[in-house]
Amino acid sequence: MSIVSHAELDKQTVTKAYDRWAPVYDLVFGPVFERGRHAAIAAAERIGGRILEVGVGTGIALPHYSKNCRLCGIDISEPMLRKARERVTELGLANVEGLWVMDAEDMSFPDASFDVVTAHLVVTTAPNPEAVLNEFARVLKPGGEIILMSRVGAEAGLRRSLEHWFQPAARKLGWRSEFPFERYTRWAGQTRGVRLVESRAVPPFGHFSIIRFVKDGGAGAVRQDAAQEAYPALRAAS
Ligand SMILES: C[S@@+](CC[C@H](N)C(=O)[O-])C[C@H]1O[C@@H](n2cnc3c(N)ncnc32)[C@H](O)[C@@H]1O
Repeated sequence: MSIVSHAELDKQTVTKAYDRWAPVYDLVFGPVFERGRHAAIAAAERIGGRILEVGVGTGIALPHYSKNCRLCGIDISEPMLRKARERVTELGLANVEGLWVMDAEDMSFPDASFDVVTAHLVVTTAPNPEAVLNEFARVLKPGGEIILMSRVGAEAGLRRSLEHWFQPAARKLGWRSEFPFERYTRWAGQTRGVRLVESRAVPPFGHFSIIRFVKDGGAGAVRQDAAQEAYPALRAAS
């Protein structure tokens, strides 16, 4: 039997929350996260190739990728994904290969399917973020990158207390207010073949970060160099 506390997230709550957000999502969460999304897209385009956007939502980021990238998207909420499909049709986004209702914790793609797995504002909304990250690593090709645009919770102080206080309400809205950066470092430390190579703050408020992981084993010398350059930026946002 699983017991879900008043502050934890469960799949049904998350799905229902985003089903409700779908009609107004772009209005509420569009412009405020635009710069963060653009930074994540730029990082993904450095790698290029076949890109999976997990938690693609209403497809708000899709028109901004280069036409050379092949895009796939998944989301757990059918109403959010319906908006994404409408957007793809309306804008004639020929580089979108497919959009599927699928759970990030249990994806039906074969191993090593994508050059990049990216997720904007998704990992902290997942009931089991580490299981989601494991799936990202599984479907990623060796040499590829996981690129997140994600909230990073405070580790101490007033913001930490406020995030803790707000967590029960955040759960109903479909996300976590508490999410220490240490969860990412711990996951990378425990996951063979995956290295955390960058974390840098992006707007708004510096509470969000671009977080990059590289999956070892690829031939990409350029990527290795870029990863090493980025190392000093590690934990800049935490
Ligand atoms: C905060 S929204 C972000 C949407 C979009 N990526 C953006 O930049 O605005 C989180 C999205 O993740 C989706 N999501 C949450 N948990 C998921 C899961 N386990 N599998 C797939 N999608 C999930 C939600 O349905 C929602 O569309």
